[in-house]
Amino acid sequence: MTFLFVLGREPKISLAELEAIFSSSKVKQIGANLAQVTARTVSLDHLGGTVKVAQIIDQPIQDFLSNLPTGKITLGISDYSEHANPRKTWELALKYKNLLKRHGRNVRLVPNGKSPILSSAASHHNQLGEKTNHIEIVKYGKYTGISIGAQNITAYAKRDQARPARDAFVGMLPPKLAQILINLATAGAKTGTVLDPFCGTGVILQESILMGYSAYGTDLSEKMIDYSRKNLDWITKRTPRLQKPNAPKLHLEPGDATNHKWQLTQPDFVASEIYLGHPLSAPPAEVKLKALQQDAKALLVGFLKNLSSQLPANAQIALATPAWKRPDGSYSGVNILDEIDKLGYNAIKYHYASYDDLLYYREDQIVARQIIVLRKK
Ligand SMILES: C[S@@+](CC[C@H](N)C(=O)[O-])C[C@H]1O[C@@H](n2cnc3c(N)ncnc32)[C@H](O)[C@@H]1O
Repeated sequence: MTFLFVLGREPKISLAELEAIFSSSKVKQIGANLAQVTARTVSLDHLGGTVKVAQIIDQPIQDFLSNLPTGKITLGISDYSEHANPRKTWELALKYKNLLKRHGRNVRLVPNGKSPILSSAASHHNQLGEKTNHIEIVKYGKYTGISIGAQNITAYAKRDQARPARDAFVGMLPPKLAQILINLATAGAKTGTVLDPFCGTGVILQESILMGYSAYGTDLSEKMIDYSRKNLDWITKRTPRLQKPNAPKLHLEPGDATNHKWQLTQPDFVASEIYLGHPLSAPPAEVKLKALQQDAKALLVGFLKNLSSQLPANAQIALATPAWKRPDGSYSGVNILDEIDKLGYNAIKYHYASYDDLLYYREDQIVARQIIVLRKK
């Protein structure tokens, strides 16, 4: 089957995530924030970088609409084409509504307002693609698809904001970015154990078990292990499938990532956000920047050296590492690319995203996250 993927705020990172899961040959960028993907199934809830997915249809849309099951229809249209026009999109929606009415159907249209596209929030709140007869037609140039759903922003917000154990100093990773790191590391594997050696409050561990992987978390701080345990108990209590006997397993213990032996279980993948250093409110001066880079590099190299002998060959590692804003607005990170070979790894390359493209940040952030993906030799 062929799908249209509407990509999130960082389209290149989203494309890398899709390449990791579906392989590069199955992913084709067709617009600034759109990709065409050939796949058997899509788990939208597990994709951090995609905001909406539609299945491309080969029959005329009129035929598709005429054959919908009985009952009331909720209909929306999003036209992602470059020169799409809100008025024309609305006229098309009215045309389809009239067609359905002629077939005796009761239709509610979801208004587009001033845009030819429905935001993923509007699609999600109207349950478009999620319930029978809640239809969103997704257009892009010659492509027409029927939505299979939009990102569940309500569930993300709950998983992010309602967690019981939080820490003001250990900035929490957004769940969407945690999913992206997990997908970059697991690269389409359906089972296995994800190790997070800097687990903090446990966002990556939480998202791993929700995606069906077992999770192994370690952290230098006993307090953080305690926070992770509290947060993971909380998500397990509110997720019935995590309480079943065959549910993913969870392992937690304190440990310094630069010398710990991960022996509770064999990790298959590593997804982690390493210590990013103290939060900053302004770009650091050049001397300070050099010191921050040196500290982060020592930690990263120490960790990768220790990890190397403990992973099976070909295991993948996706890391968020710090990159600091400079006064000119550019970001400068920790360059370890020259050393990864002697540490026992190769860097993974993506067709649609260069190393520099894998920088995750918001304009107002001083410390950004540079994503690095490695494979154990
Ligand atoms: C950026 S935080 C990770 C945040 C985590 N992703 C989350 O969402 O909660 C980094 C964590 O690294 C831990 N840490 C710092 N140095 C460490 C080391 N040498 N070994 C293991 N953990 C370390 C800190 O205690 C902190 O919890």
